[in-house]
Amino acid sequence: VLVTCWSAKGGVGTTVVATALAVLAARRHGAALLVDLAGDVAPLVGADSSGPGLADWAAVDHDLPIDATTRLEHALGPDGLSLLPAGGILPDRPDRLAALAAVLSADSRPVVVDAGCVRPGWPGEPLARSADRSLLVTRPCYLALRRMADVPLRPHGVVVVREPGRALDAGDVAEATGAAVVAEVLQDPAVARAADAGLLLSRLPRTLARPLAAVWS
Ligand SMILES: Nc1ncnc2c1ncn2[C@@H]1O[C@H](COP(=O)(O)OP(=O)(O)OP(=O)(O)O)[C@@H](O)[C@H]1O
Ligand SMILES: [Mg+2]
Repeated sequence: VLVTCWSAKGGVGTTVVATALAVLAARRHGAALLVDLAGDVAPLVGADSSGPGLADWAAVDHDLPIDATTRLEHALGPDGLSLLPAGGILPDRPDRLAALAAVLSADSRPVVVDAGCVRPGWPGEPLARSADRSLLVTRPCYLALRRMADVPLRPHGVVVVREPGRALDAGDVAEATGAAVVAEVLQDPAVARAADAGLLLSRLPRTLARPLAAVWS
């Protein structure tokens, strides 16, 4: 199963949500693949980000062996999670991204893609379009929801990252996006601390684990 996480406005928590979903999938299935199109996953989980990644793979002109992306993977943590790192800025190669989508769709593991912030002309679009589940990550924020008008993509579901005191709620988000809210994650200092300390893999905070487990059930 191929799940993509993306946002219409940056900095909402997409990378944290995608990483947590991949950790939960690995714990549940004994293996999972986290694919980074945006470039923040390796530093977030304390992995080495100096080697080649998807950007290098996508820039190649000739046919590569089918397992070429597998060779770019790094093992992350004890639960069978692997990372396919970004390795740089993704080139605008719809043909290569469509090929990647086919490879990832055929993977026997659950695959979670951090597709980052989607803008018109964004190179990861073919991948998001072929996902079994395309998840928008958003704050219940007027400006973030307004950006959806510029996004050439509709989600299957929405993950809301909620701070206290917002006037908009999950119902408003569902109405504005036309998709069901599949999880509500609280803005939690424990999540920010775990992220900053590189501890999301080893000690996934309950405020993330509990609501996001519902996405896999
Ligand atoms: N649920 C949460 N509670 C508290 N802090 C959070 C939560 N989710 C994310 N953060 C913090 O918010 C910041 C942005 O998170 P993250 O990098 O996941 O956002 P993003 O949407 O991927 O951003 P970008 O658009 O730059 O890729 C980070 O400092 C992260 O630790
Ligand atoms: Mg990100």
